[in-house]
Amino acid sequence: MSESVYITTPIYYVNDVPHLGHAYTTVAADALARWHRSCGRRVRFVTGTDEHGQKIERAAAAHGEEPIELADRVVARFRALWEQLHIAHDDFIRTTEPRHQEVVRRLWSLMSEGGDIEAGGYEGLYCTGCEAYKTDKELDAEGRCPDHGTPAELLKEPSYFFKLERYRSRLLDSLAERPERILPEARRNKILADLSQPLGDLSISRTSFSWGVPVPGDDAHVMYVWLDALTNYISALGWPDGEDYGSFWADCDRRIHLIGKDILWFHTVYWPSFLMSAGLPLATTVFAHGWWTVGGKKMSKTLGNVVDPGRVAELYGSDALRYFLLREVPFGADGDFSKDALVQRINSDLANDLGNLANRTLAMTGRWCEGVAPTGRTDRQVEWDAVVASVGAAMDALQPHKALEAALAWVRSCNRDLDARAPWSAHKEGRVDDRDDCLADTLEGLRRAAALLAPFMPVKMAELCLKLGLKATPRMDSLGGWGDALAGVAVHAGEPLFPRIDPDDAPDITGPAGSDEPEEAVIDYEDFTRVALKVGVVRSATPVEGADRLLQLEVDVGEGAPRSIVAGIAEAYAPADVEGRRVVVVTNLAPRKIRGVLSQGMVLASGAGGGDLQLVSPDGDPAPGEVVR
Ligand code: ME8
Repeated sequence: MSESVYITTPIYYVNDVPHLGHAYTTVAADALARWHRSCGRRVRFVTGTDEHGQKIERAAAAHGEEPIELADRVVARFRALWEQLHIAHDDFIRTTEPRHQEVVRRLWSLMSEGGDIEAGGYEGLYCTGCEAYKTDKELDAEGRCPDHGTPAELLKEPSYFFKLERYRSRLLDSLAERPERILPEARRNKILADLSQPLGDLSISRTSFSWGVPVPGDDAHVMYVWLDALTNYISALGWPDGEDYGSFWADCDRRIHLIGKDILWFHTVYWPSFLMSAGLPLATTVFAHGWWTVGGKKMSKTLGNVVDPGRVAELYGSDALRYFLLREVPFGADGDFSKDALVQRINSDLANDLGNLANRTLAMTGRWCEGVAPTGRTDRQVEWDAVVASVGAAMDALQPHKALEAALAWVRSCNRDLDARAPWSAHKEGRVDDRDDCLADTLEGLRRAAALLAPFMPVKMAELCLKLGLKATPRMDSLGGWGDALAGVAVHAGEPLFPRIDPDDAPDITGPAGSDEPEEAVIDYEDFTRVALKVGVVRSATPVEGADRLLQLEVDVGEGAPRSIVAGIAEAYAPADVEGRRVVVVTNLAPRKIRGVLSQGMVLASGAGGGDLQLVSPDGDPAPGEVVR
């Protein structure tokens, strides 16, 4: 049976839309997966989304929607981006899927049966505005929440605890036995240093919110989101009985998690401890890459420097972006993303080196050989074998930048070889055999370059192969010995593979596109007049069962009978606060059921959501039904 490789990315939170950082891990994982597939290995490459937790519950509330609605919307954006970037994942796992939740509950039960989970109380400083526990670092010197300006209160809630400290020495042993469990080395050393301190117990359940996987046997608790999320790595394989679990975890020698450096602790301390507690094997490698900044600064919506990878792909091509991300920065180190660096990389490596090699070789073949690849007699197998060994070693060491360096060294060597053998002179001097030998060789060199680079640039390399007269991009394990694979095949130059970009005309890449806020669309006056806004008076308000943030309002909009309107304002207003109040109502919104309750319109409010909402009320006492304009 062929060797198998399991590759994962983190599963991404759905309270943010995909940005450059997400694309980085996913592109790296995709290139790695494609490389191993091309070399004939069995690969399982999994990505997905992390959809539970208070953060997502709150983000959904702020958008006035159910968490699953928010998740569905953002998942669609992730999927579309992965398609645009030609990410060929084998599976996309969502933590809201039953197949995942069953596995998480099963893992919990195993850990509990082993005596590693105990009930207790969680005590911490709680900000009611954020509805979250805060660490000392997150509060100001007076213990106030910087976002709300209110002092955090000491709160205690029931929680289950995982006996993390029990695993500290076993974690240290596992790292001593197999240091490559954490890469790069500097990050391993940091974790080793941190593991010299006791770990204590880890709180792994919450009662303060409900959007999560219920704890087996105690529905009042939902699981800590990291326990839920990390388990995706085996739920996606159908643990415990799934065939893939056997092939890609239990009996697989390469179980690789690619992550960003921010989530190393969760992956190298919590995750292996949970696995050990359940008696399962650990990942063989967790590789933490560095952080991308933009213009030297952390990406942020406020600074307006968030890079939307979809937009870069649209403007510069998805392969150019993939190449840049993996070539520009040593995998593991931090990097800075800028338009200038991107353009320079495209021009030097792709347009100049690779594109130029292809364009001129194909053009000469077109001109002098009637577009048919000639037969050669030189053998560059030895040099090629060395290149493949370098690229393979770099990919095994999770160093895609080195793999690309070696692949481009091959391209440059082909360019040098072409210049040295100067087929144009041979042609002029009538040395037809020399000319054809050189062209045949360079075409073969290009065929191999396409195989080598296809994991990084699948679309452009497929295009190159079409120019070379091939129906499909060759795989690394099917190249055969150096020879005349192309002899007699009709090739064509066509448009340049990578046109040079004029740096002065290069379009901008940062902007508001990375934000989850819908871009402010401009509408016509006609569109505006289609929205019916009226004054309403709230006659009564009652909480909606099972929905902490919803109130059902009976609102008089001057129609005789009041309308039932469900509003997400329960965290800001008690029913008594709104009864008798004047509000502004959208009256021609299509009716819909929210949590089973009919809602015939919408009341307007300002603010970010949750407890921060303020109802919009007209001045004075206009009559119910009065038009708002
Ligand atoms: O952490 N540069 O999800 P997340 C490089 N759901 N990489 C970056 C980056 C940047 N500027 N910003 C983000 C989570 N990343 C959890 C993971 S896994 C069981 C659960 C990348 O949506 C980086 O890989 O916040 C980071 O780890 C990931 O995005 C975080 O994505």
